Order: sequence, then structure tokens, then C-alpha cells
Amino acid sequence: MTIEDIKKLEAEIRALDCKSAKEVEDARIRFLGKKGSVTALFDEFRTVDKEAKKEFGRPLNELKQLAGQRIEELKEKVGDQGANSSSKEDLSMPGEPLPLGSRHPVSIVREQIVGIFRKFGYDVAEGPEIEDDYHVFEALNFPPNHPARDMQDTFFVSAGHLNPLLLRTHTSSVQVRAMEKMDLPIRVICPGRVFRNEAISARAHCIFHQVEGLYIDEGVTFADLKQAILLFAREMFGPETEIRMRPSFFPFTEPSAEVDVSCNICHGKGCNICKGTGWLEILGCGMVDPNVLEASGIDSRKYSGFAFGMGLERIAMLKWRVNDLRHYFENDMRFLQEFDSAVEV
Ligand code: DAH
Repeated sequence: MTIEDIKKLEAEIRALDCKSAKEVEDARIRFLGKKGSVTALFDEFRTVDKEAKKEFGRPLNELKQLAGQRIEELKEKVGDQGANSSSKEDLSMPGEPLPLGSRHPVSIVREQIVGIFRKFGYDVAEGPEIEDDYHVFEALNFPPNHPARDMQDTFFVSAGHLNPLLLRTHTSSVQVRAMEKMDLPIRVICPGRVFRNEAISARAHCIFHQVEGLYIDEGVTFADLKQAILLFAREMFGPETEIRMRPSFFPFTEPSAEVDVSCNICHGKGCNICKGTGWLEILGCGMVDPNVLEASGIDSRKYSGFAFGMGLERIAMLKWRVNDLRHYFENDMRFLQEFDSAVEV
């Protein structure tokens, strides 16, 4: 026996690893069994002289202890694994799918509209929901005390001030902010939430959503407006869609128009959705009034533009024949789940 024999076995024991209880038991027999290599050294130890006993006694005992310890450690290790694999849970099974929420119909419509105008080269702009009187009314050519303000019943945040804060009644305020900030030419759409002091009913709500559009460049004409709206209507409601424009009034556009699209439910024959007319009103629009351009520092002799604005709830109502505006805000799961797969209709 040499000290090297002991060292060699020690290294072997330290490096020992097992994957199953059977392997541990085999290792125990290999080292500590009757014919095991550690036991063999002890047998040999008995035969050596006194001097050698002094030299090998201690390392040999330590080796035996180490082997015993290592076997216990390995037993514990494979024992744990064994316990896991024998439990009822199968960790390789696919997880339970988490139910994903569905898109809100107003979000679906907003994303479609934004997607269509992005394709036409429009940027998206957003503005504050708590606005001042200047951006909601004054810069849009509503003089103070003008009766046109009555068309939009306003929630004031701070009344009695020269330029009171209020909840914006339309997203046209974002066109003013765009004209103030952006370089010309401007081509933006502005989706957002708006607020009006209306009694809540099937046809009116105090919160709703709009998308505003604005295009300003040199030489923009009403024909450009008509073409943009026609292309949009066909992308949104189908390639057969026709539009018609009716003269209207908005303080910030001159001339102004309201746009109807041909009813895509009865295709012009007349149904209860279009109230027998064959047409559905979808938006207001017009050529930006020169006063509005000038208020934001744009030279109205050089530049012209068009603007339009539409209500998202109304468009979603037409698309999915929703008959009550209140559904959009009540978060009734039975309503919301109807739009699980309604990305395209
Ligand atoms: N702001 C109008 C409203 O809320 C909608 C509108 C009409 C926007 C005509 C426009 C427009 O930009 O040109 O009723």
C-alpha cells in the first residue's frame, strides 16, 4: 500500500456522481462493500508493519469517512429526484392557456382608421384631454360667446377665467396643436377621447372617441378632400362604397360638409340602419378656414388645407350594428366577448 493508492481513491470518491438509487448502491458496493476498494485497503492495512500502520492509519480512516459521506449525499440527491418524478404532476405538460382579453370595438375601429391613414402617409398626433378654451374654441374660429359653442356642451374645469381649462369637446383641438408645432406640409390624424355634457342615452354619451384629420400644403383643394374621404371610405367599408357630401357648417372650415357613405347593409335599398335612406352619415369635414390657419401662424395666401373629424363609436355602431352607445362603456363581458375575433368584418 502507498499513500498514492489512498489519494487516487480519494479523488475517485470526490468525483463520484450518480443519477439513480441503483447507481448509488453500486458505488457503495464498489468502494465500501466486502470486496470494495476501500475495504481492500483496510484488509491490506492489517498485514503491514507498525511503522506503516502509523503512516496509513489516519488517511485510511478519513478515506472511509469520506466515502460514507459521499454515498449519503448522493443518496439524498437521487432520492429527491425520485420523489419528484414519482409525484402525480407531469412537469412536461403544456401550461393552461391564460384567457386573453379581446380588443374593444372602439380600439379595433381606431386601429383600422389609423392604419388606413398611415398608408396614405399621415402621421399620428395626440393632444391633452384637459385643454384650454383657446385650443378647443378660439383658435378654431369660435369667437367668445358665439352661439356655435352651444353645439358642444362643455365640461369646464376652471370657469370664469379668460382662457378656462375644460375637457376637450372634440379632437379638432389637436389640429391646432399640430399647426403650432409641426413643419409644413402637415398630414396628421389625431385619435382621442372627447367629453360633452350630454345626458346619457342610447344615442348620446358624455364620453366618446373621435379621429381628426388634417392636411395642409400649398394648393390643397376640395377635390383632394373628396378623394381622400372616398379612398378612406372604400378601405373602411368596402370597395363598392360610394360617398355623398352635404353642405354643412363648422366655424373652423369653409366650405364645410357632412359625408354619408352608402349603406353597406342594404346597399342603397333602404333598411332600418340607414332609416330607409340608403345613406349613413360618418363624418364632418371642410377646407380649413383661413382664420384658423392665420391663428396658428400659417400664411393662408400660400397654404390651404382640409380637415375632417369622425366619431369612432358611431363607425363601430355602423360596422357591427350596435344599437346602444352605452354598451361601449359598461364593460359587460357578454358584449366585449363578441369582438374576440372581430378584427375584420
Ligand atoms: N369637430 C367636429 C365635431 O366634433 C367634427 C369636425 C367637423 C371636424 C368638420 C373637422 C371638420 O375637422 O372639418 O363635431
